[in-house]
Amino acid sequence: MPSQTRKSSFTYLQQKIPVYYGSFWTPRQRQAHNLHEIAYRACFKPALPRYFIEKYTAPGDVVYDPFSGRGTTVIEAAILGRHIIANDVNPISRILAQGRMAIPDLEKLSERLDVIRQLQPVAERHHLSMFYHRQTLHELLRLRQWLQKRKAGGEEDALDHWIRMVATNRLAGHSPGFFSVYTLPPNQAVSRERQKLINAKRNQKPEYRDVKALILKKSKAMLKDLDDQARAHIEAAGRKAVFIEGDAARTKKIKANSVTLTVTSPPFLDIVQYAKDNWLRCWFNDIPVEEIAQGITMSKTVDDWMHKMQTVFHELYRVTKPGGHVAFETGEIHYGKTRLEHSVVHMGIQAGFHCDKILINEQTFTKTANIWGVRNNTHGTNSHRIVVFSKPE
Ligand SMILES: C[S@@+](CC[C@H](N)C(=O)[O-])C[C@H]1O[C@@H](n2cnc3c(N)ncnc32)[C@H](O)[C@@H]1O
Repeated sequence: MPSQTRKSSFTYLQQKIPVYYGSFWTPRQRQAHNLHEIAYRACFKPALPRYFIEKYTAPGDVVYDPFSGRGTTVIEAAILGRHIIANDVNPISRILAQGRMAIPDLEKLSERLDVIRQLQPVAERHHLSMFYHRQTLHELLRLRQWLQKRKAGGEEDALDHWIRMVATNRLAGHSPGFFSVYTLPPNQAVSRERQKLINAKRNQKPEYRDVKALILKKSKAMLKDLDDQARAHIEAAGRKAVFIEGDAARTKKIKANSVTLTVTSPPFLDIVQYAKDNWLRCWFNDIPVEEIAQGITMSKTVDDWMHKMQTVFHELYRVTKPGGHVAFETGEIHYGKTRLEHSVVHMGIQAGFHCDKILINEQTFTKTANIWGVRNNTHGTNSHRIVVFSKPE
């Protein structure tokens, strides 16, 4: 525990649950690997899962995230030599996480991108001229078609997964490092109409972006701080990694009593529009947007949310090893008035877990972190609230 920890308690059904406040991890404590640098709505910083992975697991143990998002928990676990299981109902999540489970050789990556660039032009219209220069769109369409064919033919390899992951991340953004003209950050694609307005307001037209050069540049940046040990760990984790695209409440593919640690942050009520935000990523990857819209938990009230999360907790209890742990991140919603951690304590105990503690990680914030209605800063601090459970032996 850090030296300045403050302690209080929360009583639930006559059980006194310790609540610790302190700076247990900070984003800068140990520089996070650049391999994490993929944008995704409501992702957490790698320092958060790292804290729990180092505390509750040993190399070779299984680390799981039922709401994996961009894969922060499982990528960090893989770097640390753990086995991993990732689940998310959004297929984009798998694309972003699985793509990073094999580290590419940059020469081979460059050769593959040359092969793709030399393919026949694709004669299709996609009405994306408000985002892309004509030539960029041609390059993007070739890439898209290559990936479609490789997938359909069962030929997609680790290099294709990597390319798909980087390209999905580079589709649209707010700097020349993205394929598109200036737009919102990459995890919040705007509609075609809105982009036309942005272009008019900024008096801008899409300029040519070299798709191959940008994929190589981003790949180099993501790999630059990976040492041999981290690479070897990721390769080993990648060979056994399990990726599931489904509802966190129904994960039959995961064996009972097999997971040592779960570190996760669930969808909070209906504040992040994953389907709407991901339409361009869905287009590139040939995924019907409705698929995302249907599966994602979008609770309107705390009661609805608890009803859904309770079923997830029962499933987490089934898959967790006796003696294993669950670290469940919660936000403050309704501008701090609703404390979801108390509801989370209730759900975990109902499912059979022991509630070990609540950690409130506080740190001075450097920029406003008031994200999509989840208030993550109060009086100059940025707090994460984590409820920690264990499964009785
Ligand atoms: C807060 S985000 C997780 C972010 C993650 N911790 C990260 O660092 O990227 C919540 C995730 O839950 C997923 N999700 C929503 N409803 C789900 C469900 N019923 N089952 C599985 N995943 C779901 C969303 O697609 C989203 O990726």
